Amino acid sequence: MYKQLIRPFLFKYDPEEVHYFTFSLIRKLSKIPGMNFLFRKLYETNDPRLEREVFGLKFKNPVGLAAGFDKDAKLYKELSNFGFGFIEIGTLTPKGQEGNPKKRLFRLKEDQAIINRMGFNNGGVLEAVERLKKNEGVLIGGNIGKNKLTPNEEAVTDYEICFDSLYDYVDYFVVNVSSPNTPNLRALQDKEPLQHLLQTLQNKNKTTIKQKPILLKIAPDLTDEQLLDIIDIVNSTQIAGVIATNTTLSREGLQSQNKTETGGLSGKPLTKRSTEVIRFLAEKSNRSFPIIGVGGIHSAEDAIEKLDAGASLVQLYTGFIYEGPALIKAINKAILAKQ
Ligand code: FNR
Repeated sequence: MYKQLIRPFLFKYDPEEVHYFTFSLIRKLSKIPGMNFLFRKLYETNDPRLEREVFGLKFKNPVGLAAGFDKDAKLYKELSNFGFGFIEIGTLTPKGQEGNPKKRLFRLKEDQAIINRMGFNNGGVLEAVERLKKNEGVLIGGNIGKNKLTPNEEAVTDYEICFDSLYDYVDYFVVNVSSPNTPNLRALQDKEPLQHLLQTLQNKNKTTIKQKPILLKIAPDLTDEQLLDIIDIVNSTQIAGVIATNTTLSREGLQSQNKTETGGLSGKPLTKRSTEVIRFLAEKSNRSFPIIGVGGIHSAEDAIEKLDAGASLVQLYTGFIYEGPALIKAINKAILAKQ
């Protein structure tokens, strides 16, 4: 129904407007008695064989919603009714910020892709905390970043503020240094600043009563040499794992008119590269840390490929937009069929 009826309607309108429209529609529908039950009945797959224990957390299934969809933690409860095993909120920054000027989100229909240059638009970490206080049982990842106006030399403080604020309200953290839409952010992926950033957060983590898993989210555009550095850093800082990958700057093989837009590319054109990164990290590290695989999952087969390449969990964003919530169930069913 989604691809035949809902998507053609939604795709007629501006993508960012559609995003907010869909948000408010899901919220309104969820308030109608019986609707949440119906969504769960339609899309959830409840089976103990889907449960995963990864970095000390219990996931009811390995399919999550990737960061950027529910940046401000406004809809995590309702979205979890579509069958996701976990929801990653953010990227959140210490202070709220507008992000880049609109238009900043583009569909590339022929390529089943999206280009975005949102620029960490969010209401700030404290607003999200207030919403997360109401959470009852949804497994939440907190994806954190720095404000646009914070220079890279002071970035660590921004990540620390977000870490402290969210600590009681998220199950795991994601350090995002891989968005292409905050000027210079990706320079924090270089060995020295990255080591410093992650070590500082890990030291802080160690002073807490119950340490929270900290993951690093990386770009798909890193070279093999840089990926080997990432493995070294994960091992030396003992962080919990890696999310591979964020959006790409590559524009290889695109057909759509919008391909010249600036920003990060997600969706189908990213499938192969992000799986390559997962496989490289898993093989070269001897699977010494868990990987969450994300990037261009548009079918159950795409997800299985990422799991086979070494991912312990997967996440969706663009595939969820193009395929609808049925994709989550299809992936979970395919995982069960393989067991
Ligand atoms: C994203 N993504 C993202 N990632 C992140 O770590 N923080 C963020 O704020 C955002 N924001 C965001 C906005 C939009 C509009 C898109 C399309 C994507 C990246 C996302 O989480 C994911 O890593 C990539 O999109 C690749 O996965 P898909 O979309 O190909 O499944």
